[in-house]
Formats: sequence, structure tokens, C-alpha cells
Amino acid sequence: EQAADLRLPVVLIGPMGSGKSRVGKQLAKRLGLPFVDTDNVVSGEHGAIARIFERHGEAHFRALERAAVAAALEQPAIVSLGGGAVLDEDTQRELADARVVLLTVTEEAVLARANLDKRPLLRDDPGAWSRIAAARRPVYERLADVTFDTSHRPISGIVDELVAWV
Ligand code: S3P
Repeated sequence: EQAADLRLPVVLIGPMGSGKSRVGKQLAKRLGLPFVDTDNVVSGEHGAIARIFERHGEAHFRALERAAVAAALEQPAIVSLGGGAVLDEDTQRELADARVVLLTVTEEAVLARANLDKRPLLRDDPGAWSRIAAARRPVYERLADVTFDTSHRPISGIVDELVAWV
């Protein structure tokens, strides 16, 4: 199968547990393109995200994340961002030159699904998910070119629609 000809990176954004990594991985495979998960880049280079938060604080994590996002957007690829990456203004500017897919999810679906231990912002306070998601929603919506809710449907159907959209 031939790799799709992408001129701009396709970037998945959305709250924690919305399915960005799963959708991104499957989409990249279907299109024959590289997949980059910026959380994995950061943890591959600097260790577990929860540990980075504990040892160095959130601001340090955000700086590492900003660098990983900038590098990921340099080539045509499918890129999934950590939920908070879009708060960075440099990242927001860079996303103007990308095709941005917003994934949304309900609180019930995400709490049933998400691996809370890996997510320092939720670990001690699962109720934080709704507050954080609501606070970020305007930013997500402003950046998005297309939106899918992943709560009540299989990932494969969303990937099919994205293959057509790309
Ligand atoms: C975060 C989301 C996480 C990870 C970090 C912070 C956030 O990524 O980057 O724990 O601020 O929403 P996921 O969206 O993949 O969970």
C-alpha cells in the first residue's frame, strides 16, 4: 500500500483519555505514515510523565512538551498531543499550519477508560477531569478543523472517516 501524500501534519488534540493515541496510531497505520505521540517522545527521553511532574513540576514538563511538539510538526506525520499541549501559545501558532482533529469524550466514558495512574493531573482527584476539560474546551474548539466524539463508538469507525477526510 502506498503512503498517503500529506502536505501538512494531521494533529490529534483533545482532553485526557479522549483516544488521541489510539486513533492516531491506527490512522497512521492505515495511511502508511509515521505516528508520533508527544507524550511518548517526552517520556522516552526524560522518563515517566508522572515522575517529571513530581520531580520538576508541571512548567518543566510543559517546556519539554513544547519542544517535542515543535519537532513532531516538522514532517508530515500523524501526531497526537498531550491534552494540555494546546495551551502553549507557540504550539497554538504552529497548529495554524496543520490539520487539526479534535477528539471529545464524556466524563463517564473517560473515567471508565483512562489509565489514571499515568496521568498526574487526575491521579489524586478524578473530578479534575471535568474541570480541566471544560476550561480548555474553547481552545480546543478554536483550533479544531474537524471534531469527533469517541464516547459511544468504536475507534475503527472514526479512523475510517478520518482516512476519507485526510
Ligand atoms: C496532560 C495530558 C497527558 C499528559 C500529561 C498532562 C494534560 O496526556 O501530557 O499527563 O495536561 O491534559 P493525555 O492527553 O494523552 O492523557
